[in-house]
Amino acid sequence: MASPSKRFRTIEHHLRLKDPMVVCVTGAAGQIAYSLLPMLGRGLALGTDQLIDLRLLEIPQAQGALEGVVMELQDCAYPLFYKISYGSDPAVLFKDADLIIFLGGFPRKAGMERKELIGKNCQIFKTQGEALNLVGKPTTKCLVVANPANTNCLALSTFASRIPKENFTALTRLDQNRAVWQIAARAKMNVAHISRVIIWGNHSSTQYPDVNHGQIATKVDETITSKPIREKIADNNWLNGKFIADVQQRGAAVIKARKLSSAMSAASAAIDHVRDWCLGTNGRWVSMGVVSDGAYGVPPGLVFSYPVVCENWTWTIIRDLTLDQFSQEKICATARELVEERRDALS
Ligand code: NAD
Ligand code: LMR
Repeated sequence: MASPSKRFRTIEHHLRLKDPMVVCVTGAAGQIAYSLLPMLGRGLALGTDQLIDLRLLEIPQAQGALEGVVMELQDCAYPLFYKISYGSDPAVLFKDADLIIFLGGFPRKAGMERKELIGKNCQIFKTQGEALNLVGKPTTKCLVVANPANTNCLALSTFASRIPKENFTALTRLDQNRAVWQIAARAKMNVAHISRVIIWGNHSSTQYPDVNHGQIATKVDETITSKPIREKIADNNWLNGKFIADVQQRGAAVIKARKLSSAMSAASAAIDHVRDWCLGTNGRWVSMGVVSDGAYGVPPGLVFSYPVVCENWTWTIIRDLTLDQFSQEKICATARELVEERRDALS
C-alpha cells in the first residue's frame, strides 16, 4: 500500500500539473463513455500530470442522461478534470479541441455486420466533420470508435479537410488486445510476454490478425529470450483457422452473450490507443487505423489498420515486412471491403 505521504501528496502534485488539454468525448451518455470517462479522469490516457478541460457531446434527447453522467463525474472529484462542460452542438464543443474521441453513433445488434451502420452513422460523421472543419485546430487529434470505425473516420477526415490527414485514427486496438489474449492463453503465458501481433485492415469480420512477425518472450534463468509465436504454439491449423475467425467474430460473440456490444473492453482499448499515441510506444508495435499512403499496396486514402510505432502524437507505419501469399490475400480482401464501404459512405 502507498505510504500516507504518497497518498496525500495531492496539493504539491497538483501545483506541478500541465496546462489543460481540451478533450471532447461524443456519445458521452452511452455505455462505452461510462467506462472510458473514469479512466480518462484517472490519467490513464494522457498521463497523471495532464489537466483536462472536458467537453461532452450528446444528441438533444440524451441531455438529461448526460446531466446524470456529469453529476457522477463531479462526484468522482478527479483532480485532473479542470473543467467539465456539455451540450449538443459540435461547433461549440469541438472549438479548439486538442483531442476528440468519437463514440457517438448507433451500435449494431445481433446478426448485423458493422457496415450495415454506414447509412445511419456516416451521416453523423459528415455533420461532425463539417463542424470540425470550421472550429478545429490544425493540431486537433481524432480517434473514431463508433462503427463502422474505419469508414466513419474516413468520412470525418473527408469533411474536415482543413485538418491534416495524419490527425485521424480509428480504433483497432480492441482487436489487437483480443488477439494477444488468445495467443497468451494458448501459449499459457501472460499477455505482457506477447509482442508484434498485427491487425491489418478493417475493424470488421474481414480484418486480418497476423502472428507471422509475433514473438513470445520467455525467461530462462535470468535471461529473457524471444521465440516466434508460430514456433512456440506449433499449431498452424489453429493459428490460420480458429484463431483468426474467433478474433474476427469476437464483437459478435460479445453481443450474443451480453445482448449489448462490448463497452468496457472498447473503452479500455480506446484508452490504450490514446496513451500510446500521446505518450509513445517506446518501439513497441501497436495497430491503429490510419489514412493509407499506399503502404503494402493498400489504396491510398483508405483508413486501414497497420502496425505502427508512436511518439508524441505521431505514428509511423512499420514498413518492409515480408508478407506470405496467405497474408497478401487477407490484406487484399479487407482492403477491398474498405473500398466498397468508402463508395457506399461517400455516395
Ligand atoms: P451506446 O448506444 O450505448 O452509446 C452511443 C451514444 O451515442 C448514445 O448515447 C447516443 O445518444 C449517442 N449519439 C448518437 N448520435 C450522436 C451524435 N450525432 N452526436 C453525439 N452523440 C450521439 O453505444 P456504445 O456501446 O457506447 O457504442 C458506441 C459506438 O461504438 C457504436 O457505434 C459501437 O458499434 C461502437 N463500438 C466500436 C468499437 C471498436 O472497437 N471500434 C467497439 C465497441 C463499440
Ligand atoms: C466490437 O468489436 O466489439 C465492436 O465493434 C462492437 C461490435 O459491433 O462488434
